[in-house]
Amino acid sequence: MRTQVGIVGAGPAGLMLAHLLQRAGISSVIVEAKSRAYCEARIRAGLIEQWAADMLVETGVGARMKRESMVHDGIYLCFDGALHHINFHKLVGKRVTIYGQQEVVKDLIVKRIADGGQILFDCTDVSVHGFDGQAPKIRFRHAGKEDEIDCDFIGGCDGFHGVCRPSIPAGAIKFYEREYPFGWLGILAEAPPVADELIYAYHPRGFALFSMRSPTLVRYYLQCAPDEDLNLWPDQKIWDELETRLGGTRVPKRGPVLEKIVAQMRSFVAEPMQHGRLFLAGDSAHIVPPTGAKGMNLAFADGRVLSRAIAAFYKSRSIELLDAYSATCLRRVWKAQRFSWWMTRLVHLFPEETPFDRRRQLAELDYVANSEAAAKSLAENYVGLPIE
Ligand code: DHB
Repeated sequence: MRTQVGIVGAGPAGLMLAHLLQRAGISSVIVEAKSRAYCEARIRAGLIEQWAADMLVETGVGARMKRESMVHDGIYLCFDGALHHINFHKLVGKRVTIYGQQEVVKDLIVKRIADGGQILFDCTDVSVHGFDGQAPKIRFRHAGKEDEIDCDFIGGCDGFHGVCRPSIPAGAIKFYEREYPFGWLGILAEAPPVADELIYAYHPRGFALFSMRSPTLVRYYLQCAPDEDLNLWPDQKIWDELETRLGGTRVPKRGPVLEKIVAQMRSFVAEPMQHGRLFLAGDSAHIVPPTGAKGMNLAFADGRVLSRAIAAFYKSRSIELLDAYSATCLRRVWKAQRFSWWMTRLVHLFPEETPFDRRRQLAELDYVANSEAAAKSLAENYVGLPIE
């Protein structure tokens, strides 16, 4: 098989890259280890920055999102028994779109197939070769047969645990990493949202987040131990804890819990995001802690930068944008890392903290909730920094 760009991974990064390449008239094939059903069901955050929502609409994959999503002007911070609204639209003139990541994935897969593009699901033994030279290859088994894709470039979009990043020779990339001493216990439940917009709650018992997927589906999270045992959390106990952490400001309506997970928290960056003709995009190159939901948005930003660089190469044989790929992406990535770390620190309890730290944290929440300058900084990062 021969294509211009071989892509490993059918998550947001790989699907967006393939979609934008297709629009530029560049062929690609996506190789994915999991099934289509698995990719479409993988539940992640559900918050789209304004530029990304606009890009989905402008490139023809935003119709269902426009119909089914909820557009929010801001968020609530909850601390000391009170709710404080931060109105992004008033502060910076932008909004965010609430729409599940798996819904975007479904829409991108449908579009890809309608456009006649290829996605090979259920591949095994995927490996990448030859990206140090001019003739990269992706090898894999599909439908019981060994196969190989010859391409000009490889998009390494296979996530944190994928094969692409570890295929780069040791020492050629540097890793920056930070782990957090807690996780998130998340539920998806059939119940009406507790407020019209998301609530980030700081409470002496830990952080809680009140998000939503639709007028009848909620997504709630509780700060928990990194290795929290879900067996210790019957539904009733989760609802009680959520209610407690709202500090009396609201009482969440309860309903059937459809899913329960424990999510890990990590900050991670691989630098550079390129080795020869292998370009890493999305979670294979960087992980943010979930607070602020930057993961999918960063994957889209990488796909946008990479598709433009590849398009410039085919148009004029110029490698300038390809050479700048990593540095261009990393400027955004590190700002999103800073913001995700800051927001995580703002609303979580850190076990090693002293009473002084707790007072400082409350003062910071008070400052963000009541200073226009501080709220504006939160707002411009939350809705998404300007795209280059
Ligand atoms: C969601 C997740 C987040 O991490 C966040 O900051 C906001 C919303 C969500 O799953 O809806």
